[in-house]
Amino acid sequence: MFMRTLVRAGVTLLLAASRGVSISLVVSVVEDNHTTTETGHLEIHSKVHNATGIRYVKNSGICETTPNVTQISGYINVGTNMSMWFWFFESRNSPETAPFTLWLNGGPGCSSMIGLFQENGPCLVNADRNSTTLNPYSWNNLSNMIYIDQPIGTGFSYGTDTVNSTEAAAPFVWTAFQVLFESQLFSKYASREFIFATESYGGHYGPSFVTYFDEQNALIASGEIDAVPIVVSALMINNGWYDPLIQDIAYLNFATYAPGYGQLQPDDVLKNISDSLYGPDGCVAQENACYAAGTSTHSNKICRDADNYCDVNVFTPAAGDYDSYDIRQNSSGLFPPEYYVHYLHKEDVMKKIGAQVKYEECPDAPYEKFVKTGDVARTWLPQLSALVNSRMKIFIWAGDADMVCNWLGGHASVLAMDWYGNETLHNTPLTNMTIDGKPVAAVQNVDNFSFARVYGAGHEVPAFQPQAALEIFSQVVRKEQLHSV
Ligand SMILES: *[C@@H]1O[C@H](CO)[C@@H](O)[C@H](O)[C@H]1NC(C)=O
Ligand SMILES: *[C@@H]1O[C@H](CO)[C@@H](O)[C@H](O)[C@H]1NC(C)=O
Ligand SMILES: *[C@@H]1O[C@H](CO)[C@@H](O)[C@H](O)[C@H]1NC(C)=O
Ligand SMILES: *[C@@H]1O[C@H](CO)[C@@H](O)[C@H](O)[C@H]1NC(C)=O
Ligand SMILES: *[C@@H]1O[C@H](CO)[C@@H](O)[C@H](O)[C@H]1NC(C)=O
Ligand SMILES: *[C@@H]1O[C@H](CO)[C@@H](O)[C@H](O)[C@H]1NC(C)=O
Ligand SMILES: *[C@@H]1O[C@H](CO)[C@@H](O)[C@H](O)[C@H]1NC(C)=O
Ligand SMILES: *[C@@H]1O[C@H](CO)[C@@H](O)[C@H](O)[C@H]1NC(C)=O
Ligand SMILES: *[C@@H]1O[C@H](CO)[C@@H](O)[C@H](O)[C@H]1NC(C)=O
Ligand SMILES: *[C@@H]1O[C@H](CO)[C@@H](O)[C@H](O)[C@H]1NC(C)=O
Ligand SMILES: *[C@@H]1O[C@H](CO)[C@@H](O)[C@H](O)[C@H]1NC(C)=O
Ligand SMILES: *[C@@H]1O[C@H](CO)[C@@H](O)[C@H](O)[C@H]1NC(C)=O
Repeated sequence: MFMRTLVRAGVTLLLAASRGVSISLVVSVVEDNHTTTETGHLEIHSKVHNATGIRYVKNSGICETTPNVTQISGYINVGTNMSMWFWFFESRNSPETAPFTLWLNGGPGCSSMIGLFQENGPCLVNADRNSTTLNPYSWNNLSNMIYIDQPIGTGFSYGTDTVNSTEAAAPFVWTAFQVLFESQLFSKYASREFIFATESYGGHYGPSFVTYFDEQNALIASGEIDAVPIVVSALMINNGWYDPLIQDIAYLNFATYAPGYGQLQPDDVLKNISDSLYGPDGCVAQENACYAAGTSTHSNKICRDADNYCDVNVFTPAAGDYDSYDIRQNSSGLFPPEYYVHYLHKEDVMKKIGAQVKYEECPDAPYEKFVKTGDVARTWLPQLSALVNSRMKIFIWAGDADMVCNWLGGHASVLAMDWYGNETLHNTPLTNMTIDGKPVAAVQNVDNFSFARVYGAGHEVPAFQPQAALEIFSQVVRKEQLHSV
């Protein structure tokens, strides 16, 4: 949704040689020292990072009921009074060799339990809000999966939240993986392919966090810090919020003609949206002023004001009465259902999975901190472009019935990227990818970069097109260009 760290001493692990770089990793060896807490969690304290550790329960029996598939849920303390919720599922197939995938939802301030229970997790909650059904298209069919609620205050996470921007969020997520990979519980995954999959505000999180991880890897390589390298081998973002200027313009274009769905708003409304976009002190002028203001403190107000203005005068009328996450539905938003929220509020479920606070899907508090600094109005396209230019595997995709981060804006954003393959991408037509002869997406491939418009899907693509999403995920995992099967 989008509102508006123990391996044996001296063991050297060779990380997957992604992007042609291999980093040798020497981790110190300490046995995990488990203690059991009053709440029944097993607890491990980090020997490396102050005030950090893991508090977890294993094999709760909730959600993933496939025999012998391990799951672990609980909290990573990423600092004093900072409990970051995670839920890990082993791969249903070849868990000893399968990659390690992080799934993050957006917001800012929305829980990744959205993805787990509505999109690509092992189960779906039934209409009785009290039972679950296995999802045959779960992404843990082919990858180990970890879902994290960040920043603190989101979902089941709780404690002190100091995160007021995308940039400020990154170190806590990096620390979370340091603490996980330090423990015997998760150390084996440190050498796996690391896939970073995200959605929506993930258009900010993805480019920012991967860039930060790379910067930390460089500091590790040069000996300036002693930590575990986190080498992301693929980044995938669906219906992302990359560049607000481009995406605000795309609201008008989408409302004027949404490919496959037609004109969404009457001419007089379109005229008003156009005036609000291009008029003096309009949305485009304000967004440009925000970009020009850089990261100075005074930029916060400029960017915040731009976001407010564009939200009220461009996005809101463009969406009108449509469900902005799926224009095929009206504003009542019937699918995907919110049964899972009721399920996560059940005391027995909470106790079994080790959750310690009431679940909130998209609480206001973490969101408001981002809004105050104008983070929503800022662009992460330069960082995304640089990552694409580094030749890493990057996949940008979008369900074509989503309005809020619609595919026209996503596509215009990737076409605006400054990278070596720009011309080639511009000259590559979108062609249909089919599954058993049925078109599921219109795709473009240039080397390790791919774009896809997924047909008949809203914002949460895997919820609407689970089979296509799993097939696409498998092709990204295998580092293939998107192709028909
Ligand atoms: C694609 O990425 C792989 C590493 O995953 C790299 O070896 C290869 O050179 C890249 N391909 C191109 C065309 O850049
Ligand atoms: C494990 O932790 C306990 C309590 O913190 C401590 O007394 C004990 O020495 C630790 N054992 C090891 C092997 O580190
Ligand atoms: C941990 O805290 C101690 C005492 O405050 C400090 O001396 C040390 O540098 C800290 N270590 C790290 C890794 O932050
Ligand atoms: C689960 O693991 C147990 C013990 O290793 C084994 O006996 C059993 O056959 C496995 N069940 C399935 C369904 O793989
Ligand atoms: C919910 O499910 C549990 C078993 O999973 C059952 O014991 C309980 O009666 C159910 N509650 C309701 C209200 O259906
Ligand atoms: C996912 O894995 C499960 C268990 O291995 C299997 O039953 C199911 O058919 C798989 N789903 C797909 C779509 O391959
Ligand atoms: C921990 O965080 C909570 C929630 O923000 C806050 O109410 C509490 O005062 C914090 N406790 C400490 C010791 O900082
Ligand atoms: C976020 O908060 C920190 C600490 O309060 C502050 O130094 C920083 O300037 C804030 N970030 C922005 C973008 O305002
Ligand atoms: C267009 O904007 C004008 C001036 O703000 C307003 O009076 C009019 O009602 C708007 N028309 C529509 C269709 O929203
Ligand atoms: C929204 O859709 C539902 C289900 O199709 C329908 O009952 C309801 O009347 C619709 N509401 C509006 C405002 O169109
Ligand atoms: C990318 O290519 C297009 C079409 O050739 C061109 O208009 C645009 O300026 C290029 N953008 C960059 C950033 O190189
Ligand atoms: C691609 O698939 C779409 C959606 O089914 C269809 O409308 C279009 O005609 C197809 N294009 C080609 C070239 O087959």
